[in-house]
Amino acid sequence: MHADRQPIIGGNWKLNPQSLGEAVSLAGQLRNRLGSQRSVQVVLFPPMPFLHEVAEKLRESELLVGSQDLAVQAAGAFTGAVSAAMIRSVGGQWVLCGHSERRAVFGDSDAIVGQKLSAALAGGCKPVLCIGESLEQREAGQTFAVVAAQLQVLKSFQVSQLQDLVLAYEPVWAIGTGRVATPEQAQEVHLFIRQQVQELFGKNFAQQLRIQYGGSVKSATAAGLMAQPDIDGLLVGGASLLAEEFANIVRFKSGN
Ligand code: 13P
Repeated sequence: MHADRQPIIGGNWKLNPQSLGEAVSLAGQLRNRLGSQRSVQVVLFPPMPFLHEVAEKLRESELLVGSQDLAVQAAGAFTGAVSAAMIRSVGGQWVLCGHSERRAVFGDSDAIVGQKLSAALAGGCKPVLCIGESLEQREAGQTFAVVAAQLQVLKSFQVSQLQDLVLAYEPVWAIGTGRVATPEQAQEVHLFIRQQVQELFGKNFAQQLRIQYGGSVKSATAAGLMAQPDIDGLLVGGASLLAEEFANIVRFKSGN
């Protein structure tokens, strides 16, 4: 955490919960706990069919809403696709691009992730670009090479287009495994990412860029991660479905 960068914490609900009622109820519980705090920017990423109602539930609170994904296309005959403009229209301001589950399960390549980033920016959504290495890649000593390669998608943008960009470092081996990176492991990669971004876009941009850590974050580990100088936020999966636990993460307070 750095005094010049406002912390940003995301709750990625993934394919949960299964009903609109449960989604709105969770949003309400989070609003009660976090709706008026301003020190941390909080963005919830519910499943697309619930986005509008969740955004309505959070209206005039400090909690923001985003989409877990978007289509490359802006409009037209693309069955099943959801555009950035549609996300905006139902109250979404943010969008995840290149989450590792999109990459691994749905085949989003770096090229597609770059196009999604472009579609998000063109449609007025603020992007969170997710990057991170697999266990195999880490064990082969390829972590830095992998994240450097994933960052290459940024090259096709001007710095002026990327003012709202947030990066999320999510090592795949830490996602949903209960195996959180140590603060030192995460910091090492965050610093490397910031240096890479500095090479691409200069020091001023790199210094103001916020980089989240994601992968098995719990309230017990949030404060330790956030104490690192280059960790500016967290992207939380499983623990974001538990209102009190997620609220404690946002407060950097251990619930245990
Ligand atoms: P978990 O917190 O469940 O490991 O998920 C992390 C994640 O993928 C957030 O985008």
